[in-house]
Amino acid sequence: MLHHRFIVCNHSNTLSSGSVSWQSPSNIALVKYWGKYDGQIPANASLSFTLTNCFTQTTLDFEPKSSSGFDFKVFLDGERAHSFEPKIEVFFNRIAPYLPFLEDFKFTIRTFNSFPHSSGIASSASGLSALALCLMDLEQQMQPAVTESYFFEKSSFLSRLGSGSAARSPEGPIVVWGEHPEIEDSNNLFGIRYRGPVHEVFSQYRDTVLLVDTGQKEVSSTLGHSLMKDHPFAEQRFKQAQNHLSEMISVLETGDLFRFADLVEREALSLHAMMLTSSPSFILMKPNTLEILERIRNFRSETQIPVCFTLDAGANVHVLYPKAGAETVLGFIKKKLTPFCKNGKFIEDETGEGAKKIS
Ligand code: PMV
Repeated sequence: MLHHRFIVCNHSNTLSSGSVSWQSPSNIALVKYWGKYDGQIPANASLSFTLTNCFTQTTLDFEPKSSSGFDFKVFLDGERAHSFEPKIEVFFNRIAPYLPFLEDFKFTIRTFNSFPHSSGIASSASGLSALALCLMDLEQQMQPAVTESYFFEKSSFLSRLGSGSAARSPEGPIVVWGEHPEIEDSNNLFGIRYRGPVHEVFSQYRDTVLLVDTGQKEVSSTLGHSLMKDHPFAEQRFKQAQNHLSEMISVLETGDLFRFADLVEREALSLHAMMLTSSPSFILMKPNTLEILERIRNFRSETQIPVCFTLDAGANVHVLYPKAGAETVLGFIKKKLTPFCKNGKFIEDETGEGAKKIS
């Protein structure tokens, strides 16, 4: 079994007190993950762009201790964040079999997000991957034989156990997570950098995130994934996602941005179709979301500029477009789309290379 590779056999704790910091970005799925099996195993493969400006930076202070059990405190923007601690406790329990030193230290986790708290942007992908990377850094300090590829594979593996989409954050700019017959080394346990041919038009691809609704998520990911268990269209959806990924392989190679736009939008709408037709059902788009989607499609057909949208499980819109001609699209966004955002808010981002260590 692949996961046995991530169990440390000859554990000996040689570290004294110290501190490590990692910055890990958020990512946006083009082919979505929605539906999973036990152990955070995805029902279909997904593919994402790793972002740059939306990131979490986490500093992990560690100090040896002799008592058993986990001992950690979480601080968000300098304030103790008690409400995050149960989630981290669950995460520690899931990853403990792979990190035998977790009980050997008292940890202080200090974290901040580059994007505002109430922006409606999920911080689980960036947040859990940043913590996983800090923990892997400790493993590497104790086990100097850890290679760079093992480091990132296991970081993604651990991130996945916190939040599925977090498995796609440590590396970039394009990551695949989940087994797909046409993508070598793709697997359900960790994300891999997409190594197939990618047209240069996708370099530094822009993602402007329009903040339509900045409140709490209406459907938690846990509930959303579980709704796929008895969903009448689940099997068809999982097949569709695998087929969309096959189509994406060819689009990434040819750089046909109109095919890209069509595919990415159909994927986003299919994700929402699953929520619209689950039991209970959820309408996560707001009237302003729909207005924005329509304006993007009209702009594309009128100007022949290949701008498109994608959505997460919420009302916010990610506007995707190539670097060439980005100023024109940004002008359109500012003038015609931001009036539909909450307080006119939006975040400018682009694809990036993944996590980095902060010294
Ligand atoms: O990582 P989770 O369990 O929060 O699921 C995320 C699911 C989507 O964001 C809706 C899609 C995706 O692939 O990122």
